[in-house]
Amino acid sequence: MDKNIYKPYLAELREIKRETPDVKTFKVEILEDIDFNYLPGQFAMVSVFGRGECPISFSSSNFRDDLIEFSVKRLGKVTVALHELEAGDRIGVRGPYGNGFPIDDWKGKNLVFIGGGIGQAPLRSSIRHVLAERESFDRIDIFYGAPSTEEIVFEDELYQLEDRNDLNVYLSIDEKEGGWSRFVGFVPENVERIAPSSENSIALTCGPPVMIKFVVKNLKELGFESDEIFTSLEMKMKCGVGKCGRCNVGSLYVCKDGPVFSYDQVQESPLSIEEI
Ligand code: FES
Repeated sequence: MDKNIYKPYLAELREIKRETPDVKTFKVEILEDIDFNYLPGQFAMVSVFGRGECPISFSSSNFRDDLIEFSVKRLGKVTVALHELEAGDRIGVRGPYGNGFPIDDWKGKNLVFIGGGIGQAPLRSSIRHVLAERESFDRIDIFYGAPSTEEIVFEDELYQLEDRNDLNVYLSIDEKEGGWSRFVGFVPENVERIAPSSENSIALTCGPPVMIKFVVKNLKELGFESDEIFTSLEMKMKCGVGKCGRCNVGSLYVCKDGPVFSYDQVQESPLSIEEI
């Protein structure tokens, strides 16, 4: 069947995993006979029947995951309603929308992923995509930070990635906790401490705006050019379809022109990334 990106498809929640006290990952199967292909960084409009619809980034990879995954923080009316659902319940999914990370353009390069909190969702999709063809990329560094151990999303997966010898993982929590042997401090400090090389490198970052602000500053000090730093501004989106006018960054609309931007695209806008 031809896919119509404006039509919501009926989908079923196959599995729900609690990641943190307010984040869950939903594994979703589209119940209609369509090829639902998407890129890391793209998003879908997810509807909870009778409660509304909201934009949510994919946290899975089309390349290696059979089911679509959405990792969702309980934050507004629709996401609260989504968190109340159980495996077997049905939702609507339409999309995919947005541009996504141009990962295939980065083959042969070093990749530096820098995530904070639930901002890791689109980066997880990108990491899974990249690891499905690991040999196409050079060095891979993954930074991730959360306020506390309780708030680490994708915790088991991050620990499994730490055990691999073909990439480097640098985890952090904001404040000291008993039993935590990794870095204590904010994500930008961890980036400054490790100082990943900017040579032949691309950095992808997503997380709270204040984290992105200082991560970008540190990356620039390490020699990254503005067009070598990419971020997803998915958190700016509301309606997701160009109607509400609430996602603009200067003349750009996050939902229509993004949500993925290189830093040189947004730094020139009157509303710079530091103010988002
Ligand atoms: S999210 Fe509503 S116009 Fe972009």
